[in-house]
This record gives sequence, C-alpha cells and structure tokens, in this order.
Amino acid sequence: MTAEHDTTDVLVVGSGIAGCAAALAAAREGSDVLLVTKAERPDDASTDWAQGGISTTRGDPGSLKEDVLEASDGTADPDAVDVLVEHADDAVEDVLVDTLEIPFDETDDGEFDYTREAAHSDRRILHVDAATGSHVLRPFLNYVDDHDRIEVRQDTAALELITDEGRISGVLTDEEATGKPIFAGATVLATGGIGALYERSTNPDDATGDGIAMAALAGADVEDLEYVQFHPTVYAGDDPFLLSEALRGEGAVLRNGDGERFMPDYHPDAELAPRDVVARAVATEREETGEIVLDVSTLEGEFEDEFPTIAEKCRDRGVDGEEIPVAPCQHFLCGGIDVDDRGRASLERLYAVGECARTGVHGANRLASTSLLEGLVWGLRAGEDAAARDLEPTVVDAPELRDSDPDLPERFAAEKFTRLQATMDEYLGLERDPDEISRASSVLRRLKGEVDAYVRTRTARDLYELRNATVTAVLIARAASENAESKGCHYVVDGDDREAVAGSQP
Ligand code: SIN
Repeated sequence: MTAEHDTTDVLVVGSGIAGCAAALAAAREGSDVLLVTKAERPDDASTDWAQGGISTTRGDPGSLKEDVLEASDGTADPDAVDVLVEHADDAVEDVLVDTLEIPFDETDDGEFDYTREAAHSDRRILHVDAATGSHVLRPFLNYVDDHDRIEVRQDTAALELITDEGRISGVLTDEEATGKPIFAGATVLATGGIGALYERSTNPDDATGDGIAMAALAGADVEDLEYVQFHPTVYAGDDPFLLSEALRGEGAVLRNGDGERFMPDYHPDAELAPRDVVARAVATEREETGEIVLDVSTLEGEFEDEFPTIAEKCRDRGVDGEEIPVAPCQHFLCGGIDVDDRGRASLERLYAVGECARTGVHGANRLASTSLLEGLVWGLRAGEDAAARDLEPTVVDAPELRDSDPDLPERFAAEKFTRLQATMDEYLGLERDPDEISRASSVLRRLKGEVDAYVRTRTARDLYELRNATVTAVLIARAASENAESKGCHYVVDGDDREAVAGSQP
C-alpha cells in the first residue's frame, strides 16, 4: 500500500479559469477540493494571457448559437452549444460580476462596454482593456485560495493518472522524489492547451498537452485533435504576442506587402471572417507579397486609449507606428478529452474542462471569446456534478518512480522538444498535405519511442512534459491522417498545387 499520500473529495489539476470554476463549484456544494498546478505562480496559466474578452449572449442565446455553428463550418455539436448559450449569462453574472466583481470596461453611461470580434454578429463581448484574462484570473485565484474548503498547491506537477479497475483514483505528482499520489473521489483535468508543441504560440511555454496525454494513456477517449487553431494576428517579430481580434472588431485592417487591404477579396466579412479563413489569407499574402501589417490607424478610437496594454507591448518591441507586422501562430486546440455536458470523460471518476477538453462546442474552428466562457460554464458544471456524486476517495497501490539525474533530462528534453516543434511547424500547421502528415507521424512515433525509454524510470518534470507533448503530437498527427476532409482549422491540401480538398471553406 502506498505510504505517503494525500486524499481529497475533488482534485483539480490546473489553475486557469476552468480549474478555478470547477474548484469553486465543488466547494460551494460542500466538497473539500485540492487544486494543484505545476506553475510556480498559479496565475501562470493560458487564461492569464487571454486578451479579447468573454462572450455573453446579451439576452439572445439563439444568435450566439448561430455564430458558433457558423464559425465552426457547421461542425460544432448543437446540443453542446445549447448548453453553452443557455448557461453563459448566468455564469458570467454569478461568478464574474457578482462574486468576483471583475471591473469590466464600461461606457460613459455606466453600461457594460461590449466589444465585437471576428464572426460575431453582435457586440456582446465583455472585456477589461485587451487584458481580460489576467483581470479575471487573478481575483478568481485569490478567491479560491481564500476559500475554507479549497487548498491551492503550486509547483506540483501531475505526472500520471492512477487507475484502479478502469476508474480514475487520482494522480501521481512529483512532490516527492519517488512521486507522491493524491487520491480523490473525482479528478478534474483543467490543464490547458498545447502551445509548446509549436515553436511560436500565444500560450505559456508549459502548455505541453499534459491532461490530454495523461487521459489518453489511461484509456480515455480523445476527439477532434486535428483542429489546431492558429490566430491570424500575432506580432511577427521576436517575442511574439497576440494582437487581439478586438482590434479588427473595432476597425483595424490588414494590409499586404504592397500596402493593399486584401481581406475583402477573401471573404464577404473581410477582417471579421472566421479565424481560420483570416489566418490562411494572411499566410498566403505573406508568401506572395511580403510583410503583412495590422493597420490600427483605421480604429474607431485612439489605439493608445482603447488598447493600452497592446500599445505598450508594441512600444516595448520598438514598434511605434500604426502598422504592426503580424503573422499567424498557434493559439488554441479545439479538440481534446471527449466529455459530456457535465464534463465527464469516458473513464469513471474522470472529468476534463477548459482547453484540454472536447465538449463539442468548437467543432473544427472556435469562435473568438468562447474559450473563457466554455471554461467557466463547463468548470462550474463539472465541479457541481463531481460534488453532487459525493464519491469516497479510494487509496490504491500507485507506481513508484525512481529519482533522476537532474542534468540529463534537461539536455535530453531540450533537444527532443526542438525536433518535435520543427515537425509540428512543418507538417501540422495551417495547411496539411496527406503525405506530409504521414511523414510527421513516423517522425513523431520514433521520437515517442526514444522519450518513453527515459520516462519509465525517472521523475523529472521536463521528461514528463516531453512525454506528454510527444504523446499529444502523435495523437494530433493520427487524427489529421484519419480525416481527409478540409474543415475549419484542418485544411488539407492536395499535392504540388496545394489546392484544398473537398469540404474546405474559402
Ligand atoms: C483575441 O483576443 O483575439 C483572442 C480571443 C480568443 O482567442 O478567443
């Protein structure tokens, strides 16, 4: 029997908006919650980096539903979208407005200053400047940390799920040199995305696909992993950062290397077309005409006044004018661990919420400003459901890990990560060719074999992150190879002429 371990009613892995929401909901229902995060600062989560805002329905759920379905090219699950739009406004009001009192931007009349982003037919997005994520997450973390029933434990990585006769009993963490188990009645994965699988991403560096890999290795179903979303407007120089879609929502336009506005030639909604359409157009124009810029001189208000955080980032990088060089870059994973409308995964006692989960809301392409919303809504639903089941934690035998050589894993992991990112960038980017996908699959499977040989005997976090990244990459390549149809973010091109195959959007 495992000697040193912890137990809790509900274990949450991850400290973004979805993890906080799950913890809050479970604690409100009377469960004891332990929230662990591998980050040294719990606010170092993708949520903290989110800019544009959080969508509401503004009292018209049908209209938001239509936009979500349209942006997904008809691939989102309408039942899941119903859950999102039916609970959106209550969740935002209850948690963000009433409980946390987030200072969302207001107009001079004291009303919420709703903004608009691509593929939204209405102004319905709440925001704080263009730094909404950090303004939401930091008070949220303070709130859960102060809650009597919630313990937040940072710098604690979940290494693997502990299984017991087909159900999940908890996770093995790296708290001790040989690994320390935490056993829970229910385990909620809220581990975020996969940005670290690509060289350039809008995610923090430790977005290594941990939850997806751990769940898949334990036997949980994963879905829609081929739908990797690229954001069209990310600063193209060193130290990339997001230029929020809200800029285009408020009037900024894209210009090609000849200084011409090109988006009207690609889509009737021009700069406000679905994200995958704009991202591919930017990439094409970049290849054909040179540097693409986001022109902020056409904004309705003043750039510095309306978007002070983004303006400051531009100044920090020496961009002083009104034309900011941009390129597409990895941003979000639309698929993930397959879950139902309460966040339950296919394995007993396992939940997944936020970016690591596949709820069906995003289908092949996510609508802007629905990720914080999905994390909030599903986090609350999963936390409530887990607490209501009132499951006793069971303490079972857990694997013991051997201590590691601290220098070796770091060198080994850095080298393999470079190979992994190069493969993902080259073959599993904005456009995918079936031959190239199968080449990527072979490279990634070989890499996984090399990494597995190390991981089995060592606790070093670097190695587990690398293992998680390679497992997730192999799964993405497999999903891409099994789907020959272009839809949303999965844009399959055919051979030398790089023409899209059937099913593609413009
Ligand atoms: C953005 O601000 O452009 C990103 C919003 C999102 O990804 O939903």
